[in-house]
Amino acid sequence: MSPAEAQTRIAELRTQVAHHDELYYRRAHPEITDFDYDRLKAELADLETRFPAAAVAVGAESPTAKVGDDRTEGFARVKHRQAMTTLDNTYDETELREFHARLVKALGVDDLAYTVEPKIDGVAVSLTFEHGKLTRAVTRGDGEEGDDVTVNVRTIRGLPHALKGRPVPDVIEIRGEIFLREEEFRRINQLQEEAGEAPYANPRNLAAGTLKALDPGFVAGRSLEIVVYGLGHCEPEVVTSQVAYHAQLKAWGLPVVEPYWAVHGIDAVWAAIVELDGVRRSFAYGTDGAVVKLDSFEQQRHPKIGFRGMGADGRAEAARKLSPRWACAYKFAPDRAETRVRDITIQVGRTGALTPVAELEPVFLAGTTVKRATLHNADEIARKDVRIGDAVLVEKAGEIIPAVVAVLLGKRPAGSEPYAFPKQCPVCYTAVVRGEGEVVWRCPNPACPEKVRRRIEHFTSKGGLDIEGLGEEMVALLLEKKLIATMADIYRLKFEQLLPLKKSGEVWARNLIAGIDASRAADLWRVIHGLGIPQVGAAAAKDLARAFRSLDALTGATVNDLLRIDGFGEKTAAAVATWFAEPANCELVRELQAAGLNPTPPAAASSALAGKTFVLTGTLPTLSREAATALIEAAGGKVSGSVSKKTHYVVAGEDAGSKLEKARTLGVSVLDEAGLQQLLASAV
Ligand code: IVH
Repeated sequence: MSPAEAQTRIAELRTQVAHHDELYYRRAHPEITDFDYDRLKAELADLETRFPAAAVAVGAESPTAKVGDDRTEGFARVKHRQAMTTLDNTYDETELREFHARLVKALGVDDLAYTVEPKIDGVAVSLTFEHGKLTRAVTRGDGEEGDDVTVNVRTIRGLPHALKGRPVPDVIEIRGEIFLREEEFRRINQLQEEAGEAPYANPRNLAAGTLKALDPGFVAGRSLEIVVYGLGHCEPEVVTSQVAYHAQLKAWGLPVVEPYWAVHGIDAVWAAIVELDGVRRSFAYGTDGAVVKLDSFEQQRHPKIGFRGMGADGRAEAARKLSPRWACAYKFAPDRAETRVRDITIQVGRTGALTPVAELEPVFLAGTTVKRATLHNADEIARKDVRIGDAVLVEKAGEIIPAVVAVLLGKRPAGSEPYAFPKQCPVCYTAVVRGEGEVVWRCPNPACPEKVRRRIEHFTSKGGLDIEGLGEEMVALLLEKKLIATMADIYRLKFEQLLPLKKSGEVWARNLIAGIDASRAADLWRVIHGLGIPQVGAAAAKDLARAFRSLDALTGATVNDLLRIDGFGEKTAAAVATWFAEPANCELVRELQAAGLNPTPPAAASSALAGKTFVLTGTLPTLSREAATALIEAAGGKVSGSVSKKTHYVVAGEDAGSKLEKARTLGVSVLDEAGLQQLLASAV
């Protein structure tokens, strides 16, 4: 490559990397996989090193010389006491061995102690504890200064707001990763798709998007989790190695990365990485690699270690933003495979949403055979130009759902045509519609047989009435045999009608009838959830059940009634009211009741705390946050993350901050722990 060509390519790559940085860090909606991103960045770094003059000619600023910037509007900015660095990824064992060789050379010691930890695929955050109390949570930002996300982070269950035991430093910055479990990711993405919004590609992006939500109540409704692994500023110092630090974090009661390996020498490091690769798929968090750390803090701070990218003159200011040389991130290659698109089919969801699916030549990938991959929506197909017959790469990396990541254009069969997204529902042939600003096309026909089937399936499913024996296949069969046409028909089924459906089906038919009977008295929230009201997941259904206590009361609810429920915004309230304004839906509810459905309202009806919303703030003298929450919930109350006019009580402990002020401004009653205990006692 000539210097002129290098210059052109450097300029091109810088624009691309900057574009992907923006999508990844600020908008949490990346367009390419981490693997492809790392490749672009590595190519850029390589050219900048080989052609320094060309790099300078393009301009001084390069995305390789800084960490991505996650700062967004709406958050106060806070300077880190110690810069929050990151690590470049390597996918290569040789590079890992070079990392060790560099350290051996710099330190003049052969036998180096390391830790090997899972690299959690989440969002980095720095927690400041002052005299043992959590006072701040800040995102990485540009490495020097991040966004203050303290209120959101405080909603994370499992993160204590005070360190347990002694010693605690005066000030410590503890670094960790915020993540979402796979089940939670699936749950939220389903709601997202039902609401016609773009699904998140993977749990990391969803965690990033959630952490940056401006409403802490909304954040509390999504189960974020955290683990901690790193140290920033610490005054006075309490430990001198990563192993000791890990033990100390655990002793303080913080959730830590587990398992991790403490080893000597690079061969043992590699063995630990291989072992980690074998077990990582069973972890709660997505683990896309390993972080190898020099164990001794003294060695980490050795003047010869420094930062990758530090100039010959050792300019510390710029270097602070780069990767320290005492650690190395090794990423497992994403699980990818090449296959062919046999067909593109369209799934119709219960809300009528049309989801295109690539039907693939079966291919073995990361432990399972993949036959189908989601293509998300019409825009995505057009953007990737996926066609029937194309050779494609499918990947399961951070992405849990297999996705088509690229079309191998060189292998495209001659004469292939761009995919034409259907203009009609593939099941009932009704013309499809797309709401303004929505990415999803929908079938608007309420009687569309596929929508009906999906709705009934949802109604009887685990999250709905949970009727055993009435899974997908049985619902389909009952519909096919015309034994049911609506949800209410389930309650009119007779033993004699079921009997012929299975050979020697007596026991089965009796059990199914018994299961259906038992569900007549199901918890009210299950029925509300099972109705399939847009925007209403299990949590909202529970809120509605608590607030209205009967289907009749809920049917008559106005938007204003609904808005009074803590955690209900305009969108959810409008969705519920609109659903019940539809005569066919009210008719369905009436029919269900007429067929004998008589759901059970939530317990604690007589409790004085039913329907009461509490906000906890500060540290209570004896009760942990979890314990206080459990007591309140057991008495029928609800704990929320933020104070509003709808809050009934704020329970304030030591170091209560802005929530207490807000409670006072809004005239919300404030209790201390003794007051809460009294209220609980009187509520029994
Ligand atoms: S230590 C010098 N340990 O991955 C900074 N980071 O690629 C070292 N990460 O920025 C950070 N798990 O956001 C460390 N066990 C772990 C980690 C971890 C995930 C993230 C973190 C970091 C990036 C490094």
